[in-house]
Amino acid sequence: MKILGIETSCDETSAAVVDDELRVHSNIIQSQIDLHERYGGIVPELASRRHIVAILPTIELALEEAQTTLDKIGAIAVTEGPGLAGSLLVGVNVAKALSWSRDLPLIPVNHLEGHIYANWLRPADDPEWSPPEFPVVCLIVSGGHTELLLMREHGTYELLGQTIDDAAGEAFDKGARILGLGFPGGPAIQKAAANGRTGQHPLPRAWLGESYDFSFSGLKTALLREAEQYRRPRGGRTRASESDPFQTHEPVQYGPNVPIADIAADYQDAIVEVLVNKTARAARDYRAATVLLAGGVAPNALLRKRLQAAVSVPLRYPPVILCTDNAAMIAGAAHFNTRRGDRAALDLDIHPRLPLTTKTAIKS
Ligand code: KG4
Ligand code: ZN
Repeated sequence: MKILGIETSCDETSAAVVDDELRVHSNIIQSQIDLHERYGGIVPELASRRHIVAILPTIELALEEAQTTLDKIGAIAVTEGPGLAGSLLVGVNVAKALSWSRDLPLIPVNHLEGHIYANWLRPADDPEWSPPEFPVVCLIVSGGHTELLLMREHGTYELLGQTIDDAAGEAFDKGARILGLGFPGGPAIQKAAANGRTGQHPLPRAWLGESYDFSFSGLKTALLREAEQYRRPRGGRTRASESDPFQTHEPVQYGPNVPIADIAADYQDAIVEVLVNKTARAARDYRAATVLLAGGVAPNALLRKRLQAAVSVPLRYPPVILCTDNAAMIAGAAHFNTRRGDRAALDLDIHPRLPLTTKTAIKS
């Protein structure tokens, strides 16, 4: 059976066709970065309006690229949450309309479950590929989430820890805005840091005792304090606190000879060190057979390298295109739902703050 996946939870309009073997036949992703980058972050109203315009052509393209038609699709899978309410509504309503008009089962998918199951999608070019072995410790790191989970089997998620304030991706995005590096911040900071030296600008790490929780807001404030000494005086105001870069859409102005690369390197190091340390400890404590990375921050090269060195079991992560938001991961996760006989009725609604915790995401 082929599943048509639909994902519109944030700022990517995506549709994909995935089969029973977890092979991706198409995965069309229409990014909205051009729309939001001038604001340094996502503007929800603009995001939902763009989804409305893009969703039907995206679905048509996904079917065309998979060389299939709606007649040959066995089910529709759609992200029900968490995400932006207006954005989620577009995908859920299109999915409901398709499901009703074609009499197809409608499978709701938790967005975070989708990120995790990107690790189960079968690569086209690797005949040796095998699925991750349980128990799995999974670090989900995205623009909206930082969650450390234990999966003992399909569809069960024990929350070991999560961020108590900013998500890791948000820390990258806000840090990049402070440093004037653009949006999205993760790739920008990684690129700047590649030319920098660490150890020049010590920044704090929030360990939060023995817990598996994370906190990045203190680090972000420390970065602001570190960076403000280099800001170019503007209209007689030199202190960042008087013109808060978290609030303004104007790019920060720095004077000449500012060690942006070095500061970016220390900032990235501080985020990655905490993520790696806690994930590796969880993998040891819970005797994980596999460690998974998932979400938009998972492509970070330093995170992958340090985590690989810190764990003694295989570290798996999806290819970059399947780490950021996409519909193939939603269709992939839905395959595991259908095997459990899960079906959603047409009264399916959005859940902007849907959590992913033990046995709540998949009803059995
Ligand atoms: O999963 P995603 O596409 O959207 C959410 O569901 O939030 O994640 C987007 C996040 C952004 O914060 C972006 O800055 C971050 O992923 N990101 C990275 C990298 N590439 C994207 N963060 C660190 N290093 C990267 N290479
Ligand atoms: Zn996401």
